[in-house]
Amino acid sequence: MNFMAALNEVASKNLCVLEEQIRESISEDTFIFEACAPLFKGGKRLRPMLFLLCANSKNDFPQKKSMPLAVALELIHTASLVHDDIIDSSKKRRGVETSNSKYGAQIAVLIGDYLFAKAFQLVAENNYGAEVSSTLSKLVKNLCVGEIMQDRSLYEVPTLGEYYTRINLKTAIFLSSCCRLGAIVSEMDKREVENLTAYGTNLGLAFQIIDDLLDFFGDEKITGKPRGGDLKSGVITLPVIRALEVSDEAPTLRKIVTSGKDVDAAIKIIQATDAVDYCRTRAEAHIESARVNLPLTLKTSVALALEQVADFIVDRTR
Ligand code: FPP
Ligand code: MG
Repeated sequence: MNFMAALNEVASKNLCVLEEQIRESISEDTFIFEACAPLFKGGKRLRPMLFLLCANSKNDFPQKKSMPLAVALELIHTASLVHDDIIDSSKKRRGVETSNSKYGAQIAVLIGDYLFAKAFQLVAENNYGAEVSSTLSKLVKNLCVGEIMQDRSLYEVPTLGEYYTRINLKTAIFLSSCCRLGAIVSEMDKREVENLTAYGTNLGLAFQIIDDLLDFFGDEKITGKPRGGDLKSGVITLPVIRALEVSDEAPTLRKIVTSGKDVDAAIKIIQATDAVDYCRTRAEAHIESARVNLPLTLKTSVALALEQVADFIVDRTR
């Protein structure tokens, strides 16, 4: 299913404006525009869309007021990907050449920093208040801690708990913050804010579990990333954790994943176990929790769109 097809009129009426304003946000400098425009060609706009849906899920929040924060969320996400691609030495992202491959790490760091600074400029100039700034700052700190945690434990097999801590910091907190920010700016009550946050957390956990599966079993032409990339770079994820638990060939698999060599053999060993089903079942359970957390007070049309976003997360191929 196509993500955009899952969106209702709240989202589609915002999407063109969002694209326009993302473009505008990178238009002040010729080099920045040249370097950044291709970065925004792909991408699902999941984070700004979650924010916009939540901001209009009970009360209407004017587009003029919500859009700068929606843009800021996509800029922060893209900045984090630019930096992530430097850390991972990735050559391709969303099917296009990464900034570090094109311009070298020195310039790529600065491109990421620029996007990041632009995001905070948009937030500062639109008076969202301290709670919004604080939520965004915590979100970025958590992204950094998640990335540091991952980088300090490359080629080590995490426990299930350690894996969950990492994907929560790296991904789930971002999606939950988008939902939380939507609820905060549209002045929903405390309980609704917490429920939408829990919806986002579960969505994010499911999203990262599926992402980790796609890294092994996705179609490279669709994901835009080479298969087995996580394992090659020493990032050990849920399919491996499960296969190590149940496979007869666990000792061989352990050798491969702690060295990052012979990834194709690792994929075969994982495929011979129930790891794919196990990961999907876990992702589906998080999607169910996400759904259960949707407040009953939401407008039916937006609640439906948020449910469809949840379905898209487990059905996605990229
Ligand atoms: C992609 O993960 C990357 C992230 C989820 C976050 C990276 C965060 C940072 C580099 C720190 C924050 C920096 C700024 C400027 C906000 P992945 O490697 O699992 O996914 P991939 O396969 O798409 O690369
Ligand atoms: Mg990466």
